[in-house]
Amino acid sequence: MKESSRTPEVAPASSSQNDADMGVNSLWGGRFKGGPSEIMRQINASIDIDQRLAMQDLAGSTAHCHMLVKQGIISAEDGSQILEGLATIGTEIARGEFVFKIEHEDIHMNIESRLAELIGPVAGRLHTARSRNDQVATDFKLWLREEIDGLNLSIQSLQEQLIILAEAHIDTILPGLTHMQAAQPVTLGHHLLAYVEMLGRDRGRLSDCRARMNENPLGSAALAGTPYPIDRDFTTRALGFDRPTANSLDAVSDRDFALEFLAAATILGLHLSRFAEELIIWVSDNFRYIQLSDRFTTGSSIMPQKRNPDAAELLRARVGRSLAAFTNLVLVVKALPLAYAKDLQEDKEPVFATVDSLNLCLAAATGMVKDMTVNRERLYRAAFTGFITATDLADYLVMELKLPFRQAHRVTGEIVALAESLGVGLTELPLTAMQSIEPKLTEAVYEQLTLESSVAKRNSFGGTAPERVKAATAAARKKYVK
Ligand code: ARG
Repeated sequence: MKESSRTPEVAPASSSQNDADMGVNSLWGGRFKGGPSEIMRQINASIDIDQRLAMQDLAGSTAHCHMLVKQGIISAEDGSQILEGLATIGTEIARGEFVFKIEHEDIHMNIESRLAELIGPVAGRLHTARSRNDQVATDFKLWLREEIDGLNLSIQSLQEQLIILAEAHIDTILPGLTHMQAAQPVTLGHHLLAYVEMLGRDRGRLSDCRARMNENPLGSAALAGTPYPIDRDFTTRALGFDRPTANSLDAVSDRDFALEFLAAATILGLHLSRFAEELIIWVSDNFRYIQLSDRFTTGSSIMPQKRNPDAAELLRARVGRSLAAFTNLVLVVKALPLAYAKDLQEDKEPVFATVDSLNLCLAAATGMVKDMTVNRERLYRAAFTGFITATDLADYLVMELKLPFRQAHRVTGEIVALAESLGVGLTELPLTAMQSIEPKLTEAVYEQLTLESSVAKRNSFGGTAPERVKAATAAARKKYVK
């Protein structure tokens, strides 16, 4: 997580600034006689949240100013004063010296007010041919675009650790489950690569979202466009957008991009929660398939023997935050008429919170995987429970004895029932006992019932056979890690 993206403090309005003497806002107060009440200021201000957009706001203003000069809308002299002022503000913000003030409402007006302090009335020319409505949409997209790129890399790191672990466990056998019941043996490498695929789709969703959002709202102004001869292609290029948005009303009120991000984030969070749940099961006393490191577990303040998978538990729980954020923003946008309304100011907090939480969750997941040790022996022994290779027996009856699969299924069921009544597994059941149900069976059946043979045979594309998993790890590395 970037330091600069943490929420710094906002200077509180001084105690003398009460209802009576707060004064009229210098940036929009022309038609007002009195200032807003303290309560109005508090509910209206977003600076404690949107100060995270400071650098994006400066980037947008800088591009806008260059464009105004190029188009002859403001003079080159005024433009260079403004640009100098913006650069100074950039330095102040980077050094943590900038004082964000609640009386200036939001990041846009905080920066513009500071610009006026620095360069005087010429600062007032910067807001020509734009509005905070197109400004905030632009800033927010620039911010989210960058965060998506960061998340993409973090997901890639998690995929890489999973692939490294999968490579080490191409032929490590564990019981594969359906309904939480032993179903068929699988390899651990295969199991881990399942998460690599889920995460690959998460990355795909995020990059789709990024591609769709990458249109420049700047120049839409308040809602209707602007009479000034602006060049939207210029700011589009300067800010790295693919094209300008096509409709000004849409551009200032569209928050699809944030919603789409939160939906993708929720699905990513879901995947992390499923993985976390497996880790929690795998470290539990009855499983002990894996061990998590000291770095990602905690002790109990009362029970000295404990090692708790708290990080995994928090990952499991935290998807709720992303879904809550998504629900929150859906309800902000629901039934909102065109174009901008202040409701939309509520869009940032859920997105910021989701990005922060996901960055932390991905780092924790990556750390847990990197550090974890696998107890091969426990996994292998666990696969001996039940009649886990019964499907192999049925398949053998089909392939070798040419039984129809349905009949093979029934015969195998009877053999399983017999073994169960004798209290033995399939491989310990004497041949004579098997032959009492299917006389054509021979000694050769036993080698079909081992765990190794079971996984080795499942070498259809996408299957669990070590040979397949080996190829799959190489393919995953090429596709996702490079
Ligand atoms: N702080 C505002 C927001 O985040 C900026 C846009 C304000 N526009 C306005 N017309 N009041 O939405």
